[in-house]
Amino acid sequence: MGARGCLGPLLPLLPLLLLLLLLPPFPGSGVTSVGSESLPGAVAAAGGDRTWLQPSIIGGHEAKRHSRPYMAFLQFGAGHACGAALLHRRWALTAAHCLSGRPWHKGRLLVGLHNWRDDEEEDTQSFTIRTVCPHPGYDRRMMENDLLLLQLDGKVTLSRTRQLIPLASREPAPGARCSLAGWGVVDPQGRRLSPTLQEMDVTVMDTRMCNNSRFWHGKIGPAMICFQGQRRGSAPAKGDSGGPLVCGKRPAVAGVVSFSSKNAADPFKPPVAASTVKHKKWIQKILRRGCGSGQPDHTG
Ligand SMILES: *[C@@H]1O[C@H](CO)[C@@H](O)[C@H](O)[C@H]1NC(C)=O
Repeated sequence: MGARGCLGPLLPLLPLLLLLLLLPPFPGSGVTSVGSESLPGAVAAAGGDRTWLQPSIIGGHEAKRHSRPYMAFLQFGAGHACGAALLHRRWALTAAHCLSGRPWHKGRLLVGLHNWRDDEEEDTQSFTIRTVCPHPGYDRRMMENDLLLLQLDGKVTLSRTRQLIPLASREPAPGARCSLAGWGVVDPQGRRLSPTLQEMDVTVMDTRMCNNSRFWHGKIGPAMICFQGQRRGSAPAKGDSGGPLVCGKRPAVAGVVSFSSKNAADPFKPPVAASTVKHKKWIQKILRRGCGSGQPDHTG
């Protein structure tokens, strides 16, 4: 919309803009979705019904600018990957599947972003990734424990547009109202990201019901949270995965958006998040001590 008109005043932002404009053409033009490229194991092993999130956000709306200052935008090379949540000035939480097959040392995390087409430079900070810590129990076939902590190569300067979010202490009960947000792609080919942060309200589903034969039929693990869009037919989009499932009056992260079915509109295959409540101790340990993997850590 206003993108063209903004290019003039944004000249000082050209380096950031150029970086971001490189995003839409995903690598490998024959590939119709980043998902099939990123999750071959999961899709094949689960008989094709469990996949990367769908190519179009349904029923979401644009978030109020900087109303979710913990939201971060994770990208690898020229392709967009995932959403993430800022837990600490040096650490962000995302989904382990966001990494699969990607050169993580080329990853970048942008914080303080609302619209990657025209945001003000002072709102946004960009970091390279120093270390990645996937959950040791991450199972890409079953999508169990789909959590990943990213250590940034610097410290986020907290501001009006860049804030931390705490971890929830209690698992959201069935019926709990939560929300999620992301820059998920908006076109059916899955090539164009939403320039602005989109959000949607969701309701947590009873896990036993979600696991029964009418729904995910035994594929729901003990650390997964099923949820449904509050607006009928609404669902998260590809590119929204890795973003936090935010619950509670005082917003806190209860999960990380992990997977959905190929047919996002299928009410019997609701989207699923990896619980962070079940893994809170692991997350806190990593934030204190790191995970000792990734690159040698001697830059301070
Ligand atoms: C879902 O069902 C499968 C198969 O019956 C079972 O192994 C698994 O533990 C169940 N998940 C939960 C969270 O109860």
